[in-house]
Amino acid sequence: MNDEVETLLSQPPLKSKKYQKKVRVMLEKNAVIEVLIEDLSHDGKGVAKVENLVFFVDNALPGERIQMRVLKVTKKMGYGKVEERLSTSPERNEAIDMTYLRSGIADLGHLNYEAQLIFKTKQVKDSLYKMADIKDIDVPLTLGMDQPFAYRNKAQVPVRRVSGQLETGFFRKNSHDLMPIEDFYIQDKEIDNLLVFVRDLLRRYDLKACDEKEQSGLIRHLIVRRGHYSGEIMLIIVTTRPKIFRIEQIIEKIVAEFPALVSVIQNINDQNTNAILGKEFRTLYGKDTITDQMLGNTYAISAQSFYQVNTEMAEKLYQTAIDFADVKPDDVVIDAYSGIGTIGLSFAKHVQHVYGVEVVAAAVHDAQKNAAANGIDNVTYVCDSAEKAMEKWVKDGIKPTIIIVDPPRKGLTESFIKVSANVQPEKIIYISCNPATMARDIKLYEELGYKLTKVQPVDLFPQTHHCEVVSLLEKRN
Ligand SMILES: C[S@@+](CC[C@H](N)C(=O)[O-])C[C@H]1O[C@@H](n2cnc3c(N)ncnc32)[C@H](O)[C@@H]1O
Repeated sequence: MNDEVETLLSQPPLKSKKYQKKVRVMLEKNAVIEVLIEDLSHDGKGVAKVENLVFFVDNALPGERIQMRVLKVTKKMGYGKVEERLSTSPERNEAIDMTYLRSGIADLGHLNYEAQLIFKTKQVKDSLYKMADIKDIDVPLTLGMDQPFAYRNKAQVPVRRVSGQLETGFFRKNSHDLMPIEDFYIQDKEIDNLLVFVRDLLRRYDLKACDEKEQSGLIRHLIVRRGHYSGEIMLIIVTTRPKIFRIEQIIEKIVAEFPALVSVIQNINDQNTNAILGKEFRTLYGKDTITDQMLGNTYAISAQSFYQVNTEMAEKLYQTAIDFADVKPDDVVIDAYSGIGTIGLSFAKHVQHVYGVEVVAAAVHDAQKNAAANGIDNVTYVCDSAEKAMEKWVKDGIKPTIIIVDPPRKGLTESFIKVSANVQPEKIIYISCNPATMARDIKLYEELGYKLTKVQPVDLFPQTHHCEVVSLLEKRN
């Protein structure tokens, strides 16, 4: 830090605009200043305050004093990086390999696991307080894993040319520079083994990795799913063009090494876009789906369908939802955002009927097949947007006693909340992977006659900042 900034910052804060402007000029890019990290942001960055500016810093934990290099300053906030750590938090996990932080694979891996669970609990509490003005709810500690590593049943790995060679790995955070990686730390180890084997085969068969700048090459991504209980594996090869030279021989070799590989799918994505998948899927080998089990039911999962990536903790999440619902045999349940039916089918055996809605056609097809495969006939699944299906069900006179919602990160729409509250179910179970949008939506439900009575965060994504939570709203009398 230069002397002038130091003198300015050591003065009592003078709030004049001229002073603020001067501080800002001094905090220009590349300045180095000493700061104390006071908090963690929702995405796991250290938060430091310099005058009235909030700085966000990667790999910095509350209580740590650091020399921070200023990377960028905007009107309201700044970004910095650790130039030197002057003190170390007792909650720091010193053993973490920096690759996992730089790539974002495990962006909270520098915090020990106990502290991660406390951080996630606080995220939920803070969101409910800030977004919904709810202070009087008990948020129990996030349910965690005994072994919070190697839990992911799915990998999505970019394939690029690095130093003249086809590589699989992960993009450096906020970039498309591929960092070659073999051990993904939080992925099922058998998935990591398969990825290395396939990478070596692609090299041997001289298949070209995608080159985004030159818009050339064939292989864009490898996606692997492995059933947690079944061990069945699906490999999806995302390519820029339909033809994969000598693919039959390649598949034969992979199956010989990994007999649990029961499905190889090609997805063709010829668009210059960040989206991983294109529209066209072709089954190159075996089945269109893999099967797995959850809470005693068997599920077929196709390439396009959503399936929770941490099976062990998803079972705990669903069990919490079932406990919160406290179902009766005459309950009528709506399972909105139903995916392949995992939640609704877990409820079906205990209630009168389950109505499910999901926007991805393949997932609805899976849900219908899954109901039949498990001998469940009191369910109806439709392919539609949750908003439209909800309106239609209400028009048709369906009176749900329990509505379960499990939307994507952006949460529910106002129209869905209004229609679902209007039909007056006794209970609404809200499962969310984004506490902020969940809290926003709960605020509206509270205005429409519901009360938040139970909350339980469940750690589906150890070593990352992502946070899953289930809440119970009950109709006020
Ligand atoms: C977080 S996932 C939950 C899936 C399922 N409940 C589970 O636990 O596996 C959200 C699901 O909502 C679906 N979806 C997204 N927008 C939707 C909408 N507007 N209407 C209905 N489903 C939607 C997605 O395709 C995805 O399957």
